[in-house]
Amino acid sequence: MIVSPLGLFNLALLIVTLGLVLLGFYEKRYEQRTIRHAAIMTTAFILTVISVLLIMVPSLVVVLENDLEATDWRFEFLLVHHIVGLLALGMAALLAGSWLLRGRRPDSCLGKPRSKRLIMRTTFMLWVLTIVMGITLYLVFL
Ligand code: HEM
Repeated sequence: MIVSPLGLFNLALLIVTLGLVLLGFYEKRYEQRTIRHAAIMTTAFILTVISVLLIMVPSLVVVLENDLEATDWRFEFLLVHHIVGLLALGMAALLAGSWLLRGRRPDSCLGKPRSKRLIMRTTFMLWVLTIVMGITLYLVFL
C-alpha cells in the first residue's frame, strides 16, 4: 500500500502528539508544573480526537476494504493498536474532561491523590504505546 498525503499528515500529527505527551510528562515529573502538564496533555488529547475522527477512522475503513485480509499479521497489529488506543483515549477523556469541567485548577482532575497517579501513569503508558504502534504501522505500510 502507498501512504497518501493525508496518511503522511497523520504520521506527522502522531509524532507531534508523541512529543506533546512526553513534554507533558516532563513538565509534571521534573518541573512540577501541574497546570502546564494538564494543558499540554489536554491539547494532545484534543489533537488525537480530531485526527482519529477526521483521518484515522476514514483511512481504517479504506484499509479494511481494500488492503488487508483478516489473516494478515498487520490486521492483528491494527486491532491491538485500536484496543489499546481506545482504552488510552477513554482514560485521557476522563482526565482532561474532568479538569476542563471542574475549573482547570491543579486539583480539579479526577481521582484521589494516590489513584490519580496510578490512573495517569497507566494512561501515559497506554497512550505512548498506541502512538508508537501507530507510527510503526505507517512505517510498515510505507
Ligand atoms: C490527559 C492525560 C494525562 C496523562 C497521560 C497524564 C499523565 C501523568 C503522569 C504519567 C503522571 C505521573 C508523573 C510522575 O511520575 O511523577 C501525572 C501526574 C499528575 N498529573 Fe497528569 N496526566 C494527564 C492529565 C492530567 C490533567 C488534566 C491534570 C489536571 C490537573 C493532571 C494532574 C496531575 C497531577 C496533580 C499529578 C501528580 C499526581 C501525584 O503525584 O499525586 N494530569 N500525570
